Amino acid sequence: MKEIINSIRARFPALSENEGVARILATGFLMHLGVTPAALADIKTVVSEAVTNAIVHGYRDRNGAGCPVFLELTLYADRTLVITVRDRGRGIPDLEQAMQPFFTTDREGERSGMGLPIMDAFTDQMKITTSPKGTKVVMKKRLP
Ligand SMILES: Nc1ncnc2c1ncn2[C@@H]1O[C@H](COP(=O)(O)OP(=O)(O)O)[C@@H](O)[C@H]1O
Ligand SMILES: [Mg+2]
Repeated sequence: MKEIINSIRARFPALSENEGVARILATGFLMHLGVTPAALADIKTVVSEAVTNAIVHGYRDRNGAGCPVFLELTLYADRTLVITVRDRGRGIPDLEQAMQPFFTTDREGERSGMGLPIMDAFTDQMKITTSPKGTKVVMKKRLP
């Protein structure tokens, strides 16, 4: 880890159109780093899964326009990428249960319940801190 090479922070309202913005931010951040297409695809996936969770679950039943989502991307000298996605939403009451493949609280049946397992599998480390005041997901990935 050690020395920080580059870091960006974004704050945006919890609107579904910003899932795509977050993916593009991650792509732009990694441009010129010679990241393999496979690794880039994984990173875009985990960023959009985490941001989508903040928007649809964190701020469920809220008007997303007034609800902030925070995305932070930091690159360290040893090519460790740290992705942080944070919301000030309702939190996850049972994290162990939420981590189970196919577990979802979605009522419309649109979601797969695979977001958190994918984020865990596609990164080298994932840590979640959550409370009724919000959720923070920190993911680390060594860039190939
Ligand atoms: N940021 C969040 N805020 C509140 N609840 C969350 C958050 N992220 C995940 N969850 C909870 O964890 C469950 C599992 O998340 P995930 O694996 O991404 O599946 P899905 O999004 O398809 O439901 C969600 O259904 C939701 O109940
Ligand atoms: Mg999800």
